[in-house]
Amino acid sequence: MGAARQILLLGIFFCLLPGVFGQTFNFAADPFTFDPSCGLENLNGNWSAQGTLTITAAELVDANPQISIQTTSELCTVDISNCNVTSPSTIDACYCTGRTGDVYTLFVRRRARSSQSGASLTAVVIPSDPFLANLAKTDIGTLPLIYNTLSASLQVDEDPPIDLPTNQNVSVSGSENVTLKFCVANLLPGYTLTINVAGQTNTNTDGCLELTVTQPITVETATLSFVETDGCGRTDSFMVTLRGG
Ligand SMILES: *[C@@H]1O[C@H](CO)[C@@H](O)[C@H](O)[C@H]1NC(C)=O
Ligand SMILES: *[C@@H]1O[C@H](CO)[C@@H](O)[C@H](O)[C@H]1NC(C)=O
Ligand SMILES: *[C@@H]1O[C@H](CO)[C@@H](O)[C@H](O)[C@H]1NC(C)=O
Ligand SMILES: *[C@@H]1O[C@H](CO)[C@@H](O)[C@H](O)[C@H]1NC(C)=O
Repeated sequence: MGAARQILLLGIFFCLLPGVFGQTFNFAADPFTFDPSCGLENLNGNWSAQGTLTITAAELVDANPQISIQTTSELCTVDISNCNVTSPSTIDACYCTGRTGDVYTLFVRRRARSSQSGASLTAVVIPSDPFLANLAKTDIGTLPLIYNTLSASLQVDEDPPIDLPTNQNVSVSGSENVTLKFCVANLLPGYTLTINVAGQTNTNTDGCLELTVTQPITVETATLSFVETDGCGRTDSFMVTLRGG
């Protein structure tokens, strides 16, 4: 390699350096805040993240002031040409909360969506010339788990399944033994279902759970419960009154 070419490459390298290292994102190792603090349900909870971008006025000339916040596609942009936004009322809000010299504070808040559960979030400074490479990019972190809303049901033999609140009366009259089938939709894998009726207990760690109750039954309380071991470890328990006759 000729000396002239080396000097040229070195020159290009030093010209690029300020552009590459001048713009820096700074997000804490785990920058997410959840509301509620655990158990974000699809379209119910929300999450937010805050960090800074350092960029000089000279660097901004070549940059799009709309800082792109992305998972596999763009979620929103933070407009750093306006850092006067005070907390917007909408849950989905990406904005610049303030500026000190070249340091801009970026705030991203989104409604929980199960399609984005556990996705990687990045922030990107896009050049104003779309043919150039991105000016800076950072991995903000991994989004929290977002749950689909749970729904629990009890089916007695071939009757239609009953949605489970608590203390529901279920008729189990007749001389045939009855099979209870307990299902909870949208639990994370790694859970335990339990049915307990009159000292008989069955558990299951996958799919629905069945228990056959022996006749005659006058009045028995069936306790149906679930414990999730992953994520936030949701748990609940339902009591159903079985009435024979
Ligand atoms: C975020 O979600 C929680 C739980 O649904 C809700 O109470 C809270 O108002 C939401 N926050 C905002 C800023 O809307
Ligand atoms: C932000 O607000 C202040 C005070 O109202 C104003 O002086 C300033 O020009 C505003 N800046 C922008 C970027 O809108
Ligand atoms: C269940 O049945 C008993 C006796 O018939 C009755 O007193 C009670 O109110 C019923 N409970 C519900 C939740 O329907
Ligand atoms: C109900 O279950 C008990 C215990 O398994 C059994 O002895 C009995 O024969 C069953 N009754 C009917 C009608 O199937």
